[in-house]
Amino acid sequence: MNDTQGCVSVGGSTDGMKPTDKDVEGRTAIEPSAQKGNCTEVSGLRPVSFSEGEGRQAQPDEEIKGATAAIFGWIGGKRLLREQISRFVPEQDIPFKARKIHYYVEVFGGVAWMLLYKPRWFMYEIYNDANGDLVNLFNVMKYHPHELWREFRLMPDSQEMFDYFKTNRPITDVQRAAACYVKYAHSFSGRGETYAFKPNSMTVLARKILALAKRLDKVAVTQDGFERVIKRFDRENVFLYLDPPYYGCEHLYDATIGTNDHIRLRDMLREFAGKFALSYNDHPAIRELYKDFRIETITTRYSALGTDRKSVNELLILNY
Ligand SMILES: C[S@@+](CC[C@H](N)C(=O)[O-])C[C@H]1O[C@@H](n2cnc3c(N)ncnc32)[C@H](O)[C@@H]1O
Repeated sequence: MNDTQGCVSVGGSTDGMKPTDKDVEGRTAIEPSAQKGNCTEVSGLRPVSFSEGEGRQAQPDEEIKGATAAIFGWIGGKRLLREQISRFVPEQDIPFKARKIHYYVEVFGGVAWMLLYKPRWFMYEIYNDANGDLVNLFNVMKYHPHELWREFRLMPDSQEMFDYFKTNRPITDVQRAAACYVKYAHSFSGRGETYAFKPNSMTVLARKILALAKRLDKVAVTQDGFERVIKRFDRENVFLYLDPPYYGCEHLYDATIGTNDHIRLRDMLREFAGKFALSYNDHPAIRELYKDFRIETITTRYSALGTDRKSVNELLILNY
């Protein structure tokens, strides 16, 4: 197998968004509100005016539904597989309080396609990733969605902005979150290396951020390596979903793992007290590592550039 066999492309991130009419700039327009300086109010969130200082039409109060789409696509993101994977999550037919499992922990969270698939998986949810920029973005979306939106409003959506952030360090956490968005959402295959033009509706983005803030309201966000997370949650009442950098694809991520980490991960999971579901590429080395576990094969269709969709087998490894 060559090194990148089984490495998957970035998933899109448009499901769950319903744009209405377009304005002259091709942005999505929403009904104007009767109120001056109107606020988009989300339960638990401070109101904010999205029309401040720009002379654009004010927007109405609207119900922000739970987010199901990630903020952008991510290498190895589980957008296309999450429906199939979700069928293996245990105790879903039992009311939360009657379940034995109370914790849902995403160890290699990425942009959280799995987490976002349901309004809530278990009583308590934890999102973790080792990538500090990504974790900062999640924290800012959760705690400062309005500030993040304001930051975007001040930023030209351009290659200059992309190049600027490649060489200049953002100062505040909100700027860092916006820079993280620009880096990954506007680059080829989400690699953060080469600028890729993508028409961007600021209205849709605002709604997305607010919906994500609401979804993340009760989710604990952490930045740690997988070993510490697994150790911390090594209990019977925990369900881990793990989606590590795939075998031979480690080089595709800014934060990543080495070859020996695949073995360390297997060793830790062998002793894990709770339940886990682990995604991997279908590689003989992984089948060998996990030969003592239940292995399900899941088939999906991926394409690197939106064409030539190929059928790909992935593995879901379970300890139950
Ligand atoms: C395959 S992606 C996860 C994709 C995610 N399931 C999604 O749908 O967006 C793997 C993730 O592992 C993270 N990662 C890499 N090394 C890690 C480590 N040692 N501990 C925790 N996360 C790590 C990467 O930053 C990357 O986001």
